[in-house]
Amino acid sequence: MICASVMPKSQKEAVLLLGKALENGDLAELRIDLMPDLNLFEIINRFDKKRIIITNRKKDEGGSFEGDESNRISPLFQAIENGFGFVDVELSSGKYVKELISKRNEVKSDTNIILSYHNFNETPSNIKGIFSKMENQGQDIIKIVTYAEDLSDNLIIKDLIRLATAHKKKIISFLMGERGEISRILCNSWGGFASYAPLKGENKTAPGQITIDILNDIYRANNIREDFGIFGLVGNPVKESIGYYVHNKLLSYHGYDGVYLNFLVDDLSKFMNSFKNFFSGLCVTMPYKESIIPFVDHIDPMAKKIGAINTISKTPDGLFGTNTDWLGALYAIEKVTEIKGKKVLILGAGGAGKAIAFGVDNRKGNMYISNRDIKKSEDLSKKLKAKSIPWEDRNDVDFDILINATKIGMSPGDEICPMEDSFFEKDLSGITVFDAVYSPIYTKLLRLSREHGADIASGLDMYIGQAMAQFELWTGISPAIEKMEQFSKEALKLRGQ
Ligand SMILES: NC(=O)c1ccc[n+]([C@@H]2O[C@H](COP(=O)([O-])OP(=O)(O)OC[C@H]3O[C@@H](n4cnc5c(N)ncnc54)[C@H](OP(=O)(O)O)[C@@H]3O)[C@@H](O)[C@H]2O)c1
Repeated sequence: MICASVMPKSQKEAVLLLGKALENGDLAELRIDLMPDLNLFEIINRFDKKRIIITNRKKDEGGSFEGDESNRISPLFQAIENGFGFVDVELSSGKYVKELISKRNEVKSDTNIILSYHNFNETPSNIKGIFSKMENQGQDIIKIVTYAEDLSDNLIIKDLIRLATAHKKKIISFLMGERGEISRILCNSWGGFASYAPLKGENKTAPGQITIDILNDIYRANNIREDFGIFGLVGNPVKESIGYYVHNKLLSYHGYDGVYLNFLVDDLSKFMNSFKNFFSGLCVTMPYKESIIPFVDHIDPMAKKIGAINTISKTPDGLFGTNTDWLGALYAIEKVTEIKGKKVLILGAGGAGKAIAFGVDNRKGNMYISNRDIKKSEDLSKKLKAKSIPWEDRNDVDFDILINATKIGMSPGDEICPMEDSFFEKDLSGITVFDAVYSPIYTKLLRLSREHGADIASGLDMYIGQAMAQFELWTGISPAIEKMEQFSKEALKLRGQ
């Protein structure tokens, strides 16, 4: 189940937010910490009280209630007497835990008591001990929510939910913080009772929360099962990637039992060791495209030549590493023009520049490579029998195809262009300009080139081409191109581009 958590500041706002919460979630948690005018009777009259959790969180448990303990707990007694579905009381509430449970039994209410524990600093090593302390207090549901300092804390929560299931105890457990996102998405598939999420556009009530629309519509958190394939992006940072949207939408569209997650990795070796049995396939991004090579069992010859992996899939023979960036670049360029025999100037000799250069070499283009750090363009040119061009001479090269594989033009540097103004004084008809940058889709380089007659190829098509190859490798399904395009554009729009 997904519980939409709301924290209104007045009764009027509570009525508004509870309506939305119950529409979007299976359950709604009403956080009354900040409500001076709480009226539970109005709520009972308007809403399905059985789907509502009443919580009054104190400051040291991450809440906002300021006042004495008996005033804090008093609405929980009222909620029990009036048959709300759930009340949440913290383990640290001491004698009140027993009193609430006694009250529930005394008035024969069917309110479920959620006994909760929060830790905003860490996922403590004695988490199973905390569970043991909580499991026999007469509660109906245990809630343990801690802070993720490391991705591996997600595996601790998975084990904890397993333990609770083995003990036949209902548990709500997930992690706070960006590194704990995975647990919010997968906790139900591990056997958890519910994941919590704020409403779209509302203030988050805990760090690292994912809004309910994303949890429901993109991750489909309620439908994920344990046997689903787990795919995801390994990198640092990962937040800006559009993959979580595109791949999850595509998995859903093709009816494939899988989910795509963001793995914010601090220590690659630790991640590859602890998560090896967790994932079925990975995308790899900066800064790990090269350093991940020793962790795969097999590498495809092109990725080996490029010296970088952007895709891993699990096979019966172990982990297989490949590179689909070059395929993506060719997909984008060849939509517009042929490469064979053409003069191609590549700007950039970083990760993308290298992959694209090997792609152009595969199609037998005549290459010129220019990079700000000339040592890199010389090394790459030597490998590919290309001509290295000093960065300051790039405007003087005569070419048929121009490729920008530098970061220049990438948001927030939208108004910067890798070619000098003099380049745009010429008529560019007959020339093709491709920009690997896809954020924004129409970079300054592409806009000016098109205005001066060039044909243009976009980084978004490169993204689509490389992601299609990844999807096919993982699932065996050739993805619907029009859907891929639609989802990529939607993802960029969501990011405000
Ligand atoms: N469309 C796609 O699917 C896709 C896939 C991969 C990458 N990309 C895009 O391609 C671009 C490069 O990514 P990458 O992975 O190759 O990054 P990278 O390995 O860090 O390389 C960065 C490149 O940009 C150059 N550069 C950075 N700032 C510069 C400046 N101010 N002036 C001149 N050159 C500059 C670097 O030159 P130095 O070596 O001199 O520092 C290097 O060639 C990014 O915008 C990325 O988003 C797109």
